[in-house]
Amino acid sequence: MVTDRELLGEATTSLKEHQQRVRQRKSLLNAKLKSCLSGKSRIVLEIGCGHGHWLTDFAVTNREVLCVGIDLIGNRIERANRKASRVGLDNVLFLKAEANEFLDQLPVGLKIESVFILFPDPWPKKRHWKKRIMKTGFLDKLSDRCFEGARLHFRTDHRDYFDWATNAVAFAETWNLFSDAHWPFERETVFQSKADAYQSLIAEKRKI
Ligand SMILES: C[S@@+](CC[C@H](N)C(=O)[O-])C[C@H]1O[C@@H](n2cnc3c(N)ncnc32)[C@H](O)[C@@H]1O
Repeated sequence: MVTDRELLGEATTSLKEHQQRVRQRKSLLNAKLKSCLSGKSRIVLEIGCGHGHWLTDFAVTNREVLCVGIDLIGNRIERANRKASRVGLDNVLFLKAEANEFLDQLPVGLKIESVFILFPDPWPKKRHWKKRIMKTGFLDKLSDRCFEGARLHFRTDHRDYFDWATNAVAFAETWNLFSDAHWPFERETVFQSKADAYQSLIAEKRKI
């Protein structure tokens, strides 16, 4: 029979292993960002870019800006990078990264001029709401890495998540909601093509 002490020992070991894996992942991401983004001062960021169709097309029509797409899922990122190199683009790159970790590891001196979050996972069950990305802590962290006046573009087909996100932005001290702002670039994403209807919000980083 396994004793409490042994169970506690196992839990401590796996927690330590987990923490070590997180540290390793962050340090690899830090090195990757330094090598990809050295000398750059501004980017357009898409969080949860999936297979990268939207950002690739955005990069084609906005050749003067460096576009970075991130997603948690490695094979989506590989596909996105293959597509971008087929098109011959040198102003877009896709990286496997979690949004908070990406913002933490972004090189000092580099700022975000525009952010897109298109059809993020809505986490419809109440017990999962804490996993939604549009939360005060995240909005503050994002704002820290943005230029003043930078715009955040959010789109979802989940009515409740839209209301949640609108409230989060309205309560954030770092963003102003922009009710009549123009959506700057239309190109259907994979999830948009499956949606019956969707809603968008645009916010601007507050001037301090
Ligand atoms: C519902 S899909 C939408 C994909 C694409 N934007 C579209 O509209 O077709 C959400 C994507 O966000 C990614 N994702 C979820 N949480 C993330 C996070 N914290 N950081 C980065 N990517 C994330 C998922 O892996 C998934 O590819």
